[in-house]
Amino acid sequence: MASNDNHQVSTRVITVSDSAALAKAAAERVMARIAANSDRVAICLTGGSSPKQLYELLATDAYRKQIPWNRVHWFIGDERFVGANDPLHNMGAARRIFLDRWAPASNVHPIPTDSADPREAAQRYERELQSFYGANELDSSRPLFDVVLMGVGPDGHTASLFPDYPAIEEVERWVVGVPKAHVEPFVPRVTLTLPALNSCREMLFEVSGADKRAILTRVLDGENLPANRARSIGETIWLVDKAALPETFRE
Ligand code: 6PG
Repeated sequence: MASNDNHQVSTRVITVSDSAALAKAAAERVMARIAANSDRVAICLTGGSSPKQLYELLATDAYRKQIPWNRVHWFIGDERFVGANDPLHNMGAARRIFLDRWAPASNVHPIPTDSADPREAAQRYERELQSFYGANELDSSRPLFDVVLMGVGPDGHTASLFPDYPAIEEVERWVVGVPKAHVEPFVPRVTLTLPALNSCREMLFEVSGADKRAILTRVLDGENLPANRARSIGETIWLVDKAALPETFRE
């Protein structure tokens, strides 16, 4: 990637054949991060359609039997401000696909969309994250998350950090409300900010399908987009399938 910041050295693009191979590669990476930490593990999930195959895979015997469910905690990087049972609800999708079947309820940490407004929901979630972390300041030697899953939208947004919106510039708060989305679905959002998302051992983007080729071209060209500003303080991986890969990056 043509960006010159310090995180450049730890960013890698891994190409796989198709969306099934992508989900498997993502599952293997998540399992490796779980195995690498014998203590409490924190995984930040993402919304949209990209991670659904991964979630389905984690629910299968082959994976779920290897997950130490009692010590793995599941968070979400952004949420649509809709009811918990609304089909648009990001954590709701993860719950339906795998969490409600296997994870202890106390290990599932949704963004509270029953709050008065996205701002209040953000404050509540920030307090929850800080209480889990055990401090109000992030320490780069002790990342908040083991893994942060990410997707990229057609405008280069990631989580609910949209181009040219104030949330992308936030450096203090861990979570903020976003009154209006930049792309569909046009519902208010609550999103973790760059300082919180980047505080992870591994950030894992999943990008699949020809629809993503145009935005991936811009990302790989190093354009100043939110998805290019989200960089783990550890390792950042872009898992990309062949259909999403721009022509110029094909062998
Ligand atoms: C959301 C997401 C968002 C998503 C991208 C990609 O709540 O919409 O968290 O950042 O990851 O828009 O979405 P798709 O996977 O549906 O393409």
